[in-house]
This record gives sequence, structure tokens and C-alpha cells, in this order.
Amino acid sequence: MKYLFLIFFINFLPQYAGKSLSRDGNYPKTFEDIKKEIAGYSSIAKAIIDLAVHGKAQNRSYERLAVFADTIGPRLSGSKNLDAAIKYMFSALQEDRLENVHLEPVKVPHWERGEEFAVMLEPRNHSIAILGLGSSIATPPEGITAEVLVVTSFDELHRRAQEAKGKIVVYNQPFITYSETVQYRSRGAVEAAKVGAVASLIRSIASFSIHSPHTGWQNYQPGVPQIPTACISVEDAEMMSRMSLQGTKVVVYLKMGAKTYPDSSSFNTVAEIVGSKYPEQIVLVSGHLDSWDVGQGAMDDGGGAFISWEALSLVKDLGLRPKRTLRLVLWTGEEQGGIGAEQYYQLHKKNISNFDVVMESDEGTFRPMGLAFTGTDEARDIVKEIMTLLLPINITDIYDTADGTDIDYWMRDGVPGASLRDDISKYFWFHHSHGDTMTVQDPNQMNLCAAVWTVVSYVIADMKEMLPR
Ligand SMILES: *[C@@H]1O[C@H](CO)[C@@H](O)[C@H](O)[C@H]1NC(C)=O
Ligand SMILES: *[C@@H]1O[C@H](CO)[C@@H](O)[C@H](O)[C@H]1NC(C)=O
Ligand SMILES: *[C@@H]1O[C@H](CO)[C@@H](O)[C@H](O)[C@H]1NC(C)=O
Ligand SMILES: *[C@@H]1O[C@H](CO)[C@@H](O)[C@H](O)[C@H]1NC(C)=O
Ligand SMILES: [Zn+2]
Repeated sequence: MKYLFLIFFINFLPQYAGKSLSRDGNYPKTFEDIKKEIAGYSSIAKAIIDLAVHGKAQNRSYERLAVFADTIGPRLSGSKNLDAAIKYMFSALQEDRLENVHLEPVKVPHWERGEEFAVMLEPRNHSIAILGLGSSIATPPEGITAEVLVVTSFDELHRRAQEAKGKIVVYNQPFITYSETVQYRSRGAVEAAKVGAVASLIRSIASFSIHSPHTGWQNYQPGVPQIPTACISVEDAEMMSRMSLQGTKVVVYLKMGAKTYPDSSSFNTVAEIVGSKYPEQIVLVSGHLDSWDVGQGAMDDGGGAFISWEALSLVKDLGLRPKRTLRLVLWTGEEQGGIGAEQYYQLHKKNISNFDVVMESDEGTFRPMGLAFTGTDEARDIVKEIMTLLLPINITDIYDTADGTDIDYWMRDGVPGASLRDDISKYFWFHHSHGDTMTVQDPNQMNLCAAVWTVVSYVIADMKEMLPR
């Protein structure tokens, strides 16, 4: 009985909570009214789903991405490829007859890895697959030859600090989660340099490996010597670890030609469907156009960028025009820490009260599971209700909390945020590696992602009121 009562209570709670939503004083609105309003979108939602999943737009985001990723390839900040990608998108969005297609200039870091290789010289010759980490310095031209010190954690490094001087520190930390383990990539070189190491090699932040190094950005610290740093495969990290535990001396030769150039001109790429009633109010959908310099950046974040474009295309194809402006932003310089997004935020934050929701898809476009959302309980109840419109494809779940380097700036200031939640079980197999190619992408999965992304963004853009915050 107790449980029955509880269920009863929970079911009816939003109705009462809903009373507080009548903020503007125009008309008192209960959650029941909002539910009715949202239910009114069921035929539009079905039309979006039909077009994206079964109809004429089937596979379109995948096919567009394939042409883009195959012809342009990877798009590192500062590279000619990224310039080409931005030009390509600028034309493509215009040809798609979207509105206000324009570029917003941003200065981004320009780092190039140059030639690089590593070889284990003792106890036997073995070629080590490496990828230098973004912002790493080069080795001296003759390279570095040194014995390695293998550790599995920063704690172990500190305990064995006396042994580190003059060595190449190899981190063989286990993969726990990306957000937890990535600290070895971002500050592994700094910690190794503090105890006198001459270079650091970091086990790739990957949940699975077929001898693949996975790159990423790393950070030096003022006052700490800068040492060259690269990632290595899980296999090589584990092998050197096993040999060290046996007491075998391991010696590695490392050569890196990495170079940092002055910041480079780049752009955030923007297109819109201008709102019919509140054009100044913005529903922002986004992904980042830049990528790492290996693979094709198809998964990170070609998929997110192209389902975001697809959202505008689908709305336009159906002849819809929401009350608010649906704005597509393809960020630049994400991989260096959300550089394009930060500038965008600085330039546009004075209009923050007009940003209804900020959405980014940057964790793959695999089989979608639902929507991750950050916002107040009232806003969450509304978005949860919107997700019921996706019942025809059974993707109705809502998760805590939205994630995205590029939308964080807004969410921290209280703007509701949403990110796509999909099956990431293979995401870190490919992330930032040569394996991030079109082969990883699946047209059926992208169709479903596009349907979720479009229904959510369109309905929020068209509802009578902005989401409460
Ligand atoms: C979409 O892709 C799927 C899977 O590759 C394929 O079976 C289907 O025929 C494609 N549809 C269109 C319209 O090309
Ligand atoms: C290892 O390679 C070096 C050159 O890179 C060579 O001089 C040396 O003889 C090789 N050692 C073995 C055991 O093959
Ligand atoms: C702020 O919004 C107004 C009204 O839509 C617009 O004219 C202006 O360009 C916006 N400013 C920025 C910096 O986005
Ligand atoms: C709908 O999805 C859920 C997982 O979110 C799954 O457990 C359920 O079996 C699915 N239902 C249908 C009819 O496919
Ligand atoms: Zn990304």
C-alpha cells in the first residue's frame, strides 16, 4: 500500500509543481496544459521520424558525412584541412538554402606533430606505435634515448620519485572512465617533469585496443620544465610494465618533431531557420567541426555536426518554421579545450536570456538511448514530456546530465542544456585514433539520432514559452 500511495503521489506531483510555471503572468499554466500542448506535436514528431528514419531523408546525414569525411579527412585546428572543411560547410549550408549562413572568426591553437617515432632498444628491438599529444614540444633533433620507469598511477610516481630522474616515465594506468583516466593524458608530462623525467609516454585513454595509440590535448604548467610527451598503445604499456616488474631493464628511443605555431585564423560556422514569432530567441544545436589529425574525425565529431545540420534540413524539408530561431553552430577548436565555443559565449552572452536551450552531440552517434539534460526540475519535466513524442522509435529516456565542452559555458550560467545519449560502449575504442573513420558510423543509427535531435530541438523552439530556468 505504501508503494501504491507513493506511485500515486509521484504521478500527480508534476501537476501541482506545474502551477509555478506561470512566470510571465499572461495566463496561468498548469503542467496538464503543457502536456496537452506537447501532445499536440505528435503528428509533427511522427512526420519528422518518418522522414528521417523511413522516408526520403533516410541515410542523408550519413551520406553527407561520408562525402565530407572521405574528401576532407581529419581537421586539426590550424590545419588546411580544417579551413577546407569550413569552406565546404559554408557552401553546403547555403546550397541547403538555410538562412543567415555565416562564419564567426576565432583564433585557434596551431600545433603540428611532424615526424615522430619510438623504438624499444632493450631488451629487444621493437617498434612502438606512438601519437604525440597536442601541444607537446619536440625532442632534440637527435632524439632521446633513456631507460623507462613504468608506473600505474601518480601515487606510484610520487613514491618512486627518486628513480625518475633522467628516465622516460611510462604510465600504465588502467582505464576506469574517460573523465577519470584522462588526467594521465592531460597532466602526465607535468607530473613526470616535476620529478626529473626527460619524456613521458602515456597508455592511451582507450577502453579497447588493437595496438592503436589515441592522441589528445595535454597541458604544460608554468614553472615546470616542458618535456616531450606521446601516447602509446595499451599493449606496449602493459608489456613494458610486465618487463619492469620482472626486473628487466627497458630502454626506449623517442623522436618527435612536434611544433607549435602562432595561433591561426578559424571560424565557428553558423546557419539558421529564423523563428516566425520570436526570432531573437535561440534554440542552439551543435557539434564540433574540428577533429584530431588522425583518422577522419567521422565519429568525433562528424556525426554530431551532421545530425545537427540534419535537424535544420528536416525541419526545412517539412516546411516547418518554429516560433523561435533554430540555430546550427559547428564549433572550431573544440579539441584544444572549446576555444571556438568560449569565444562564441563571450561574444553572445549579453543575449543569454534569449538562449532557450543549448544542445551538443559530441559522444558519438551510435544507437541513441535518449537525451541527457541539465536544467531545473520544471524544465526537466517538460523535456521528459517532449521525449514521449519519440515513442514511435522507443527512445524516450532522459538522463542526468548534459555533457559537452562547447555548451558548458552556457549551462554553467543556468541555460538549460541537452546532449545526445547513445550507446558509447565502443566510443573509446576509436576516439582520437586512426580508427575514427566512416567505417565506425552506421546510417540506421544516425537516422535515429537525427530524429531524436530534430524532434527535441523543433518542439522546444516552437512551444508557447521558453523552458524555465
Ligand atoms: C540506408 O542504409 C541502409 C543500411 O546500409 C540500407 O539498407 C538502405 O537501403 C539505405 N537506404 C537508402 C535509401 O539508401
Ligand atoms: C636494434 O636496432 C639497432 C638499430 O636501430 C641495431 O643497431 C641493433 O643491432 C639492433 N639490435 C638487435 C638485437 O637486433
Ligand atoms: C543580441 O540579440 C539582438 C536581438 O536579436 C541581436 O540584434 C544582436 O545581434 C544580438 N547580439 C549578439 C552579440 O548576439
Ligand atoms: C524500448 O526500449 C527499452 C530500453 O530503453 C527496452 O527495454 C524495450 O524492450 C524497448 N521496447 C520495444 C517495444 O522495443
Ligand atoms: Zn569531440
